[in-house]
Amino acid sequence: MTLRANPWLAGVAVPPIAEAQGWIEGRSFPAEKPLIDVCQAVPGYAPPSALTQHMAAALQHPATHRYTDITGLPDLRQALAADIGRSYGLGDQPSVAAENVMITAGCNQAYCLATAALARAGDEIILPLPYYFNYQMWLEMIGVTARHIGFRPEAGGLPDLMEIEAAINAKTRALVLISPNNPTGSVYPPEYLLAALELCKRAGIALILDETYRDFMPHDEPPHALFRTHCWEGHLIHLYSFSKVFCLTGYRVGAIVADPKLIEEIGKAMDCVAICAPRIGQIAAIHGLKALDDWLHGNTGLMRDRLAALQKAFTRNDLGYEVVSAGAYFAYVKHPHRDRKAADVARRLADRQNVLALPGSMFGPGQDDYLRVAFANVEADKMPEIAARLAADAADLSW
Ligand SMILES: Cc1ncc(COP(=O)(O)O)c(C=O)c1O
Repeated sequence: MTLRANPWLAGVAVPPIAEAQGWIEGRSFPAEKPLIDVCQAVPGYAPPSALTQHMAAALQHPATHRYTDITGLPDLRQALAADIGRSYGLGDQPSVAAENVMITAGCNQAYCLATAALARAGDEIILPLPYYFNYQMWLEMIGVTARHIGFRPEAGGLPDLMEIEAAINAKTRALVLISPNNPTGSVYPPEYLLAALELCKRAGIALILDETYRDFMPHDEPPHALFRTHCWEGHLIHLYSFSKVFCLTGYRVGAIVADPKLIEEIGKAMDCVAICAPRIGQIAAIHGLKALDDWLHGNTGLMRDRLAALQKAFTRNDLGYEVVSAGAYFAYVKHPHRDRKAADVARRLADRQNVLALPGSMFGPGQDDYLRVAFANVEADKMPEIAARLAADAADLSW
């Protein structure tokens, strides 16, 4: 390349999913041992026909093809605020209104815009390990330092709040938490999240809480009570995605829920990078929120069944692989090859067992003992087959 790329960008890792998919490019797989792809978190089922028909009908309206307001369609902002009211048990006087909601082109963009609104080059944002790789990559390319917090498998993957407190300094702008977590699957308890918000309030920083997977919780209780705390907008920034819940990954629609004054600032960034989120995705999300409750609950049940099937399959005692934590879409799994790098283990699984999983090393330093299994892509009755192939790998001592 003749042009010199911005070194902050050039220094960033290549997109991990694309890298892993490259390992199997051009390969074909035998019928008796097909590829099991647990690399990317995408719903393994299609959106319902009611949704695609609704979208098809919307295409006939001229307005569908135009920009929306920078902050998104008012109907969608309202519908998401109402959904949050229901899902978080906010009662008759909900503390989240349409003016708190900004619709974005997916949750990744929500994170990029929110962090860009808070931090400038030289500032710091706290990202516990293992991190969601895109969140690390983004901070690197905008010159914001990611401060890492150690992984605690023995604590279900919950980062130590005392370590977080000790990492905060005058440059710190935010703490980022993801629950249910990618890559560990850990579901952060409500009291932990409350303590994290209190900590952020004391320190005068933001808590950016990504709840992309909140529709796939292991129980029906509200995920937390943060929206019920006094003046939550002062410190909480909630991120959401419509990608997984309504199978809309290709339409790019997510949201930021925050203080309206911060939304106004974020709107400036949105106006420059995309003007607005794609309207067709927004139309689909409105329909999802208003008409797909039963379908959604069916899928929540489906994911819970897949999780239970995975956990059962992983109890076979010749497995060698151990589930460290699991929930929603992901299991974080410790591999048995102690002296090997996670990337080598993942490549060998792809080459010999036709299982495509991501190495822990893609989720930050110190993660070489682990692999991420995005089990949501796989039907419950295939989990024993995953376990059988991992057991075969553990028994294969030739490297
Ligand atoms: C934790 C987390 N946040 C955000 C995203 C991105 O979601 P979206 O498709 O809405 O950009 C993902 C996708 O895998 C994710 O796992």
